[in-house]
Amino acid sequence: MKELAIFASGSGTNAENIIKYFKSSNEINIALVLTNNPQAGVIDKCKELGVECKLFTREEFRDNDNVLNILIDAKIDYIILAGFLWFVPAALTKEWSGKLINIHPALLPKYGGKGMHGMNVHRAIVEAKELETGITIHHVDNIYDNGGIIYQVKVSITPSDTPDTVAAKVQALEQEHFPKIIEKFCLSK
Ligand code: GAR
Repeated sequence: MKELAIFASGSGTNAENIIKYFKSSNEINIALVLTNNPQAGVIDKCKELGVECKLFTREEFRDNDNVLNILIDAKIDYIILAGFLWFVPAALTKEWSGKLINIHPALLPKYGGKGMHGMNVHRAIVEAKELETGITIHHVDNIYDNGGIIYQVKVSITPSDTPDTVAAKVQALEQEHFPKIIEKFCLSK
């Protein structure tokens, strides 16, 4: 059994979808969800789904080994960032090198980097009158949105699209593809 941890900072629709997808898997177990945000919707979602959700502080993440040790104690094989907004420290990217992946709501390298998350990305894309957007699932290293790309899929943008409708299109792609790519990725190693 591969043990997975999910990091999420927000509403947790991806985390919920991933947990449901692997619920009856006998190859992949979502052992733990971690969040930096006491207000995050993902906390209640985990309660409903019966998955442990741990809240941590910036100090526990960046300045000491508390989060690292939680992950080591839970024997985590892979880490999935699903709407997690903090920069991941080198201790984690080193320990889970090649086994730590993120989803980004655009076609990297476009619309990536610090501050480019969630609705900020969709607003920028509509403002720039892009004709397409999509999702990128990629490795995480020590530069924002820089790690090797594992998977991308595109969707068209029409002149009538707004940041909200673009967000809905991207969310539909995330729901359809992210769990399947996680499955392929974790079981291919
Ligand atoms: C998702 O769209 C994800 O791609 C994005 O945050 C959203 C989280 O939604 N991630 C980033 O912007 C990372 N830079 P969720 O909490 O409902 O899963």
